[in-house]
Amino acid sequence: MVALRNISSPERGVLLLDRDHKVILANKRASVIFGIAPDEMVGHALPEVITRRPVYDEDVVEEVLDSLCSGNAIIHRYSSPVYSPDGSVGGRVEIYSDITARRELEKEILDRNVELAELNGQLQEAQEMLIHSERLRTLGEMAAGVAHDINNVLGIILGNAQLAKRSVAGNESALHSLEAIELAARDAAETIRRLREIGKPTDISSYGAVDLNSIVDDVVHGAFPAWQESGSHGGARIEFNTALSSGCIVHGNASELREALANIILNAAQAIEGAGRIEVYTARDGGHVEVAVTDTGIGMSQETKQRLFDPFFTTRGAQGTGLGMSMIDAIAIRHGGRVLVESEEGKGTRVTMRLPASAISS
Ligand SMILES: Nc1ncnc2c1ncn2[C@@H]1O[C@H](COP(=O)(O)OP(=O)(O)O)[C@@H](O)[C@H]1O
Ligand SMILES: [Mg+2]
Repeated sequence: MVALRNISSPERGVLLLDRDHKVILANKRASVIFGIAPDEMVGHALPEVITRRPVYDEDVVEEVLDSLCSGNAIIHRYSSPVYSPDGSVGGRVEIYSDITARRELEKEILDRNVELAELNGQLQEAQEMLIHSERLRTLGEMAAGVAHDINNVLGIILGNAQLAKRSVAGNESALHSLEAIELAARDAAETIRRLREIGKPTDISSYGAVDLNSIVDDVVHGAFPAWQESGSHGGARIEFNTALSSGCIVHGNASELREALANIILNAAQAIEGAGRIEVYTARDGGHVEVAVTDTGIGMSQETKQRLFDPFFTTRGAQGTGLGMSMIDAIAIRHGGRVLVESEEGKGTRVTMRLPASAISS
């Protein structure tokens, strides 16, 4: 056999092994990879760091070796049998390639992909917000257009009903009808007010530092007894708890935020049949603050969840206007935030208003 001195391959480490897997030849690159001089390798078995051996002489072995002696290099090992002219396996050739750069590139591509997916998600979210607020704006324009006329008509209906009431004194049935007209006109006026509320543009001049905890206090103490009466719980008690965290300050309009929270709690109370529990809590997380209301009510079907924010969508028949959630949503959007809804049919609902924290609270 010709005495082999070196296999010139600056990129790859090459080892030739005899049939007993002893090194016959190691090139310079292999010596660098293992940190052992070629002469010290020749005549010996593979360096100890190599543990995978072929089961049969004919086997090809491939593996990736992390951080061999030359630091953090990642080395790909390819070990293949070499056949003698008679067809038997006469030895092996082992090729070691440094794939560190490739791995780094792959990792970078992977990282980029993750980044890209994130950006895509953000873009989609921004797009949805835009479509959403555009829809609210259209609704607002429409509301502003009709509100004035309808309010005039309602004023005439109300005024005349009140006048008529005076002239039918003693006629119980006529009085009853006129009161029904009056009530209906007031309800319609309230609907118009809500519609205008939804489409209202942000009025920054009315904004100031608002503590969400005081909003909760005002709403809970100001109006809670009324919610006890609402819904279909037939006098059964709704247990009511609050859990407030400090530092929940937003830059906004207190009366709008009160209106939004009052409507979230009203919906919660209306979702409770019989006895139940409502919890209101505030929390701060990084740059955001949250006020959330959980209830043990009837929860929402998939369809309701999807249409919840559509103006006029209601599952409460004639009792509902379907404007509560739209208004809550519009108020959150005006404050640069959003409303998140989690709900399970038959178990309950959590409605969270998530708003940017005011710089003051940090
Ligand atoms: N806390 C809640 N639990 C169950 N369903 C709810 C809750 N809040 C809202 N919903 C559902 O969303 C619908 C729309 O709510 P909303 O816009 O306030 O209108 P309305 O209360 O007039 O029906 C309700 O009819 C109801 O189906
Ligand atoms: Mg409602």
